[in-house]
Amino acid sequence: MEDRPITTQGLKDTHTQSDADASVLQIWGKHPLKGHVNISGAKNSALTIIAASLLCPQDCRIRNVPNLVDVKRMEQILAALGVKIEHHGNVLDINASTISHSKAPYEIVSQLRASFFIIGPLLARLGVARIPLPGGCTIGARPVDLHVRGLQAMGADVQIEHGIVHAYVTGGQRKLRGAKIYLDYPSVGATETIMMAATLAEGETTIENAAQEPEVVDLANFCQALGARIRGAGTNTITIAGVPSLHSTDYAINPDRIEAGTFLVAGAITHSEISLSPVVPEHLTAVIAKLQATGAQIITESSDCLRILPGDTIKATDIETLPYPGFPTDMQAQFMALLTLSEGNSLITETVFENRMRHVAELNRMGADIRIKGNHALVRGVSMLSGAPVVATDLRASAALVLAGLAAEGKTIIQCLHHLDRGYEHIEAKLLALGAKLERIPAVGDISGVCLTNDPVLSEKD
Ligand code: EPZ
Repeated sequence: MEDRPITTQGLKDTHTQSDADASVLQIWGKHPLKGHVNISGAKNSALTIIAASLLCPQDCRIRNVPNLVDVKRMEQILAALGVKIEHHGNVLDINASTISHSKAPYEIVSQLRASFFIIGPLLARLGVARIPLPGGCTIGARPVDLHVRGLQAMGADVQIEHGIVHAYVTGGQRKLRGAKIYLDYPSVGATETIMMAATLAEGETTIENAAQEPEVVDLANFCQALGARIRGAGTNTITIAGVPSLHSTDYAINPDRIEAGTFLVAGAITHSEISLSPVVPEHLTAVIAKLQATGAQIITESSDCLRILPGDTIKATDIETLPYPGFPTDMQAQFMALLTLSEGNSLITETVFENRMRHVAELNRMGADIRIKGNHALVRGVSMLSGAPVVATDLRASAALVLAGLAAEGKTIIQCLHHLDRGYEHIEAKLLALGAKLERIPAVGDISGVCLTNDPVLSEKD
């Protein structure tokens, strides 16, 4: 892949949203999978770590960066701020010595919620940041009040005017100050924003009731590689001692635990034995426990490789999504697809996002029997699913429809593929290599309206 500086002009090497929505994915089900799949770098680590590179006035090399639409958008936002950024395959070279703008461009930010993560690093480096409010998306209202309250506790003045968050630090050095911050909810994003902002603050910051997700730890490890002083990442109390400045580093991102979990479910739902690496097995403890409860066996073949041996049948089990180390909300839809084919009834409770069951209607279109009541879904197992035309409504819902399609009788046609492309690197090539029968083809007629209409606020933007 040729070296090329990132500009704000268009996306390359990944399907644009309009390309994605001008095509559909056809899947012929009931073909067993076999073999090994390579797991890409973690999307949710890459997005924050790229934002964190704004903290450093020197060269940063970031490895194992997945080629995804969301990652490209984050790169474009940094380029729009005047940052030099080059992409070579899965490696990013970033130099944020000159940040010429403190305002992020609305047209890109409006498509990527995670772009709000630049507010912490910009405020820490420049003492000012102007970021469009990310707004809600299909899975929930997703306010940023905890991010804002954390920055205010560190001395930032934050105003929201005309949909833009204006944040600035008054006083001589325009430096943030260390503070004791208790989070009402262990929000991943708010923990990451405060942690990044605190790395260059005067004094010490403590975050109580912090998020413990592996992506928070990955970000902390990256910041420490830059010279930050952080303790307790991965626990519910994180302490950051501010330093005057940070230095260059060469850092490799963790493998994606949600992509790994998705492929484990692909093995279980198609009754196939497959192996996958690299993974960090500890990051998947809750997922593995629930797969074992459905009757599958998960073998740790080596420190970074897992193998799934499917059960003869799929047993029903109840699931409740929780902050890490609880069961991840980002695996809820995939497990719902699996449990539609279980022997028995399963109760799935979504506690993290208030609107993350939009895949239910599409799975029911394929012959599943799922009833929703508030944030609970009762999944009555059926003996088979049948292929049908379905619409992806968000990233993990699209993964659930792919899994259901792999297990269904006949052909499934998935529309609105821009969701899938946001979070899964080369998923079709990986599934084809495992023996799946699928193909991405141009959609017949203009279906872009479907993708626009099915998202009340123009799609998920994580
Ligand atoms: C991160 O989102 C992930 N995204 C999400 O992954 C993941 O689902 C989520 O964490 C939970 O694990 C990225 O890392 C880019 P939160 P984030 O702040 O940071 C509420 C995927 O599929 N909240 O932990 O936005 C919020 O509304 C995506 O890859 C506030 O009320 O999640 C939600 O209900 C989807 N106020 C809950 O907390 C705030 O200021 C959890 O949100 C912040 C959050």
